[in-house]
Amino acid sequence: MSEKFYITTPIYYVNAEPHIGHAYTTIVADVLNRFHKLAGSNTFFLTGTDEHGDKIVAAAENAGQTPKEYTDRISGMFQDLWPRLNISNNAFIRTTDAYHQETVQNILSLVKEKDDIYFSEYEGLYCFGCERFYTEKELVDGKCPDHQKEPDIIKEANYFFRMSRYQEWLIEHITENPSFIRPERYRNEVLSFLSEPLEDLCISRPKSRLKWGITLPFDEDFVTYVWFDALINYVSALGYPEGAAFQDFWPVAQHVIAKDILKPHGIYWPCMLKSAGIEPYQHLNVHGYWNINAGKMSKSVGNVVEPLELVDIYGLDPFRYFLMREMAFGLDSEFSEDALVQRLNADLANDLGNLVSRSLTMVHKYFEGALPSAGPSNEEDEALKNNAVLLIEIYQGHMNQLAFHKALMAVWEVISDVNKYIDQMAPWVLAKSEPERLKTVINHIFETLRIVAGLVWPFIPASAEKIQEQLGLTHKGDQCRLVDLRTWGLEKPAHPILKAPGLFPRIDLKRKEKDAPPAATKKKPRKAKTDEKPSAISFKDFQKLDLRIGVIIAAEEIPDSKKLLKLTVDMGEERERTVVAGIKEHYRKETLPGVQVLLVANLEPVKLMGVESQGMLLAAGDKGGLHLITPDSAAMPGARVK
Ligand code: MSP
Repeated sequence: MSEKFYITTPIYYVNAEPHIGHAYTTIVADVLNRFHKLAGSNTFFLTGTDEHGDKIVAAAENAGQTPKEYTDRISGMFQDLWPRLNISNNAFIRTTDAYHQETVQNILSLVKEKDDIYFSEYEGLYCFGCERFYTEKELVDGKCPDHQKEPDIIKEANYFFRMSRYQEWLIEHITENPSFIRPERYRNEVLSFLSEPLEDLCISRPKSRLKWGITLPFDEDFVTYVWFDALINYVSALGYPEGAAFQDFWPVAQHVIAKDILKPHGIYWPCMLKSAGIEPYQHLNVHGYWNINAGKMSKSVGNVVEPLELVDIYGLDPFRYFLMREMAFGLDSEFSEDALVQRLNADLANDLGNLVSRSLTMVHKYFEGALPSAGPSNEEDEALKNNAVLLIEIYQGHMNQLAFHKALMAVWEVISDVNKYIDQMAPWVLAKSEPERLKTVINHIFETLRIVAGLVWPFIPASAEKIQEQLGLTHKGDQCRLVDLRTWGLEKPAHPILKAPGLFPRIDLKRKEKDAPPAATKKKPRKAKTDEKPSAISFKDFQKLDLRIGVIIAAEEIPDSKKLLKLTVDMGEERERTVVAGIKEHYRKETLPGVQVLLVANLEPVKLMGVESQGMLLAAGDKGGLHLITPDSAAMPGARVK
């Protein structure tokens, strides 16, 4: 029997459109869900929308719609967004769904039967933004810390949940289960809150003030407080109490939230569960905020970054990768589009993208796409293999601790190992001198790529599946398992290895000039500036050009030059050439050997920074930077362009 795994996101309020804060939490849950599939678990992933309460009524009024029309529309936006971010949720719950409303009423009745609900007159400080009462102590300068507004004084009779009864039990539970709330800073925060007497929770609103909610089963004149309603989604979606999914998945429930809703999840929810006779969840995983200009992103501040705009500009997987690589789970992070571009260019285009492309090009060039078997391995081959296999364990350790950025760093160390291995082994030299050894080297590169592709799948699923397809693997995407990755040499390609078109187009850092707005301002980036149209030349003139294919076999720095690299290019029959190319700002030298290029072969040699250049590489420049022109499939070095 496979292990079970259940993960949830908060159900988002429908009073605002989704932004990258919502996208981040949901991508974290998606990454965890996919990681547990990779580990062989049977998983269930839930997200949804929170649709009752004052805030929603106010937002609907603002939009000139009824609450029902309004919630249908905004909930629809969330439901449309998730597939576009490749979110693999099994269910989407709305608190207006009939089955959820019924479950809330059932649980309220249970809690009431236990005498954990009483009726009482109450006067308190109420923040309409948070939809809850505040104690004097919780206010900052007399204002709600989240909404910077003085709360209203409200006096009304309401129903209360005897939360105080469960205070001692909760302290004990948190103390005995150190990973119940994690990371530790948030566990400590909850424990510190619990060191003061816990007040009972007001769980109703009179219908005279609010009608948009779930009617209390024991008093028709009241609706349920939104938090008491919303938290129950986590069990109603599983078909509590009888549903098979509830029996299977509730014992392993894990929630992902940000620190803004720590108190309802860390305190109200476990007490509610205890009172209703339901076991507590297993883990509450709490992350920090994405900030912009040092402030929390929020609609009222107007600094919202919309996920789809970034995805449109940079692509989905770079966006997912950036969020997961940049934020240390639990801490706040500053969002910056420049940082996203840098990660895309350095980690994805340069390191991973080039590795895949140069590796597959070599399998084509030397073996016509058929993966060779490995012969005897030497020390370097063993070192690469050991690092790659050990990576699986290291990665798993980090993922289980929610240290996503560390898991990715570990994968990228191995990516850099393979790039170095290729440079040291120099397959283009082995091809001439040691064809048997070449087979072993290519085989080791393939095996390491198979592991890398499997491990990056939870983060960048579409790109990982593309790589797995190109490698000819049978177990792609959610069919791939960690246990199989551990077995070196397990999978033989099911079809010839495919050629690798660029996985991650580079973005030009210089695009973001004064007038190129960031995605946060909602304008699309300018079109890349193209050069002036050149004047026409005759066909005879064109024929004078000698354009040929070359393969870069070495790339070196030129002292004191910011832009130039010295390249050694294999020209086939002809002698190797030295070419000085202005590509240093766009390509890392380690990633160039093995890349096929197009060369103007009959230019007069020129000396650049003291080095004689015997030809010129062709490249295209656009807003994405500089792109070397390379044949769509491996061509013979020296081949003439016709
Ligand atoms: N409806 C409640 C949750 C009920 S769960 C039973 C709610 N909704 S919300 O729309 O306000 O979503 C809050 C959640 O959105 C945060 O906990 C977090 O997951 C995500 N984020 C919203 N803004 C965020 C940032 N600026 N940064 C990171 N995550 C953020 O609260």
